[in-house]
Amino acid sequence: MTHHARPALARQYADALQGKTPFSGAGDGLFVAGERRTGKSRFLRFDLMPELKRRGVLPLYADLLHDKAKAPEDALAEVLAQAVRDNLGGIAKFFTEAGVEKISLPGILAIDLKAIGKTGGLSLYQVLDVLQKQVKKPIALVVDEAQHALTSESGDAAMWSLKSARDQMKTATGSNLMLVMSGSHSDKLSMLLNSKTAPFWGSVVQQLPTLGDDFADAQLAELRTAYPTLSALRGSVARNAFDHVGRRPPFFEIAIKEALAASGAPAHCDAAAFEKALLEITQQSAQRDRAGYTAVYLALESLEQAVLVRLIEQGPAFRPFDAPSLAFYGQQLSDKVGTGAVQKALDALREHSEQLVWKSQRGHYAVYDQGLLAWHAFLVANMAWPPKG
Ligand SMILES: Nc1ncnc2c1ncn2[C@@H]1O[C@H](COP(=O)(O)OP(=O)(O)OP(=O)(O)O)[C@@H](O)[C@H]1O
Ligand SMILES: [Mg+2]
Repeated sequence: MTHHARPALARQYADALQGKTPFSGAGDGLFVAGERRTGKSRFLRFDLMPELKRRGVLPLYADLLHDKAKAPEDALAEVLAQAVRDNLGGIAKFFTEAGVEKISLPGILAIDLKAIGKTGGLSLYQVLDVLQKQVKKPIALVVDEAQHALTSESGDAAMWSLKSARDQMKTATGSNLMLVMSGSHSDKLSMLLNSKTAPFWGSVVQQLPTLGDDFADAQLAELRTAYPTLSALRGSVARNAFDHVGRRPPFFEIAIKEALAASGAPAHCDAAAFEKALLEITQQSAQRDRAGYTAVYLALESLEQAVLVRLIEQGPAFRPFDAPSLAFYGQQLSDKVGTGAVQKALDALREHSEQLVWKSQRGHYAVYDQGLLAWHAFLVANMAWPPKG
């Protein structure tokens, strides 16, 4: 699938980050959430970062989940170390080519690339500041899967360091450090900013718009070019099919491939057969998704089910052990439920192979994947809640 650019959205976010949009709040950081597989990382890397670069900003990208075994603060430090190597020209090149990880020119620069953000090494702020002064451009640090930092104390501390760096690098007219944080669930991401004890308190999470009808139209145009017999394909069918897969490009691509196979490609592709197959396949994909969630839910213990439902219904207001929650579980199970059992259920949900529940290091919970919320909302709207075996 060729990249479908979203230049207008990239310009809108870049304007906000540069403080050109009054009251956007993005000068303090841009927090964007979107469902899994909807194209967040692609947008950040291929649309927003190039737009910022065109505007004379140095964009840096850190994916905190790229390597799950790596601590979030190490992932951040490595990105900064690489930026130092890439951007400090001759000085850094000389030292790094010589295999030296400590760059030290008295009074000018002193960086131990292996110790960024660690005791005895430069803080994230100090290294960002050195880098910014050397490149003489504002820096935009894009942190993908930022919520992952909140699952450990040291990751949480790294977020506080970034907040401090942002504040210290503010200028009278804007900022020399722009922060963009993204994640696949707004409840999780919002834990970076929803209380006085959160590093980015005062900012807000925005939903990243999903790819729209123009994406479906562009795929249709590619199909028509590749398979001339499909020239009669209707845009409305492609758009509906894209909706059925939750506007998630990879699932749309799979459905197109399957529909091509089902309609005689590559020898002779029948447009009517393709349309029928595409709609059927994408509808089944949505049903399959829901059936998958239902199967997982039905296999849970009854208290685990009750706790999960409470979390889905309460969202960020979920307090697992408060009296109304305990009363809710009791009502669901027709039995008295103690906090120890609730803790056990929560642990089981977190350790479940489908990763149903996420917990921050401060003890806040969220469903791991926003898809669970959509599944629950669909069943409720269709009077099919609770699901039966
Ligand atoms: N604008 C786009 N144009 C073409 N293909 C896209 C676009 N956006 C996403 N895709 C396709 O969808 C896939 C998923 O995109 P991406 O990894 O950006 O999603 P994501 O929301 O970051 O997913 P995750 O929640 O798993 O991190 C990409 O590998 C690519 O194949
Ligand atoms: Mg991603």
